[in-house]
Amino acid sequence: MDTARIGLIGLGTMGAALALNIAEKGFDIAVHNRTTSKTHRFHDAAGDLKPRITPTETLREFVDAIARPRAIILMVPAGKVVDDQIADLVPLLDDDDLIIDCGNADFHDTNRRATALTNPFLGVGVSGGEDGARHGPSIMGGGRREYWDRVADVMTAIAARAEDGTPCATWMGEGGAGHFVKAVHNGIEYADMQMIAEVYGILRDGMGLSSTDIGDVFAAWNDGPLQSYLIEITAIVARATDAATGGPLLDVILDAAGQKGTGRWTVIEAQRLAAPVPAIDTAVTARNLSSRVDARAKGEALFGAAPRRLASDALTLDHLAEALIAGKILCYAQGFGMISAAAKDFGWALPLPDIARVWRAGCIIRSTMLNDMARALSDDADRNLMLAPAFADMLRGSHDGLRGVVAQAALHGLPTPALSSGLSYFDTMRTARGTADMIQGQRDYFGRHGFVRRDTGEAHQHGPWADDTPPIPEP
Ligand code: 6PG
Repeated sequence: MDTARIGLIGLGTMGAALALNIAEKGFDIAVHNRTTSKTHRFHDAAGDLKPRITPTETLREFVDAIARPRAIILMVPAGKVVDDQIADLVPLLDDDDLIIDCGNADFHDTNRRATALTNPFLGVGVSGGEDGARHGPSIMGGGRREYWDRVADVMTAIAARAEDGTPCATWMGEGGAGHFVKAVHNGIEYADMQMIAEVYGILRDGMGLSSTDIGDVFAAWNDGPLQSYLIEITAIVARATDAATGGPLLDVILDAAGQKGTGRWTVIEAQRLAAPVPAIDTAVTARNLSSRVDARAKGEALFGAAPRRLASDALTLDHLAEALIAGKILCYAQGFGMISAAAKDFGWALPLPDIARVWRAGCIIRSTMLNDMARALSDDADRNLMLAPAFADMLRGSHDGLRGVVAQAALHGLPTPALSSGLSYFDTMRTARGTADMIQGQRDYFGRHGFVRRDTGEAHQHGPWADDTPPIPEP
């Protein structure tokens, strides 16, 4: 009784893996699951770690097994389940017992809970899937710093280690800051995955490569500047064989992407913050379009399939690698820009270089580029990453490749929405004189909204139509 350092509720895939990780790092842990048989099955299968784990059948038993002041991790599905679990738990707790939501919560819910609960509360983003949770995830903590400090030893011990040995567990700021950073992480994850899928499409339909050959291409890229977890698993997925047919696994997977909503939360919040994240936005839209399986088939029947196959000298593998390098830099630049906007809007710490560091290992978007990103953001956290010298150099060497890929894809009807949006973002961000003068002129014409003069800098200026502007029609 009263001896476990920490408690964990929710022994689904992620919760079970996290509990084993905590026990393995030497912390005694009490566990609980709504279905008791699952708790016992989990404990029975824990092998050497069994003595460190206390399985409990009731919430009372669970709470009693944890040393005071208690720290309790929730690993249950996001949304109402979290609220229900907290409501069941709170009456059994002491005032200073800490509740830690380690699920993929909407950070607005975390803000609400942190304010409404009288008990201490943390919202912690955990990335890395089952394997990460078991052997070292990337951990993004949010809530009051003093609450984080109460469990920082556990979080640090179970986290992934970067190459230099730094644990990937960091406090990101007050309230929902940890879950906010996790949402942006997932947005970047969506954009990165979408760009990879687009390049896979060009290799498959534009160049006619087999799945195995595509796997080899990605495996080779994983030895260069594109080295990352997502490129690595792309090679594995492309090379996999389906047991039933003996053919490539990719040929039997329906091309309709699922989503639990984190990417959508990110783009909704980005719009609220007026922080442009077009690559993430496009990636979420592309997932939605992918699920319109029947409509796409009808479209192909009606208009015919696009030509797709490229001339043999149209693109090289190097062009495709360059497109991915440029695309990756641009989507990270957008993600970090959004975090920077949120730091100002919410008044959260959100330390950008530390965020880059915490993503270096354990999480889904881990990649070698994050080392350089951490350095670039340490030099100037407010700078758009595409303007940082190291990344400006990489973009100089890769944006032509991105342009060639997008152009060839457009000519041959190969959809590349995320790569195209990355290119448009790049071109927009290197165009000193854009085209919004026309929009300002139009706004002034129909609504007297006024504009700023380029030559004198004077604001609230109007065009020569002031007297004869047609009235705005009634709706
Ligand atoms: C991670 C992943 C993980 C996950 C989500 C989002 O960091 O470990 O982001 O949290 O894959 O469930 O997945 P979807 O929105 O694609 O379902």
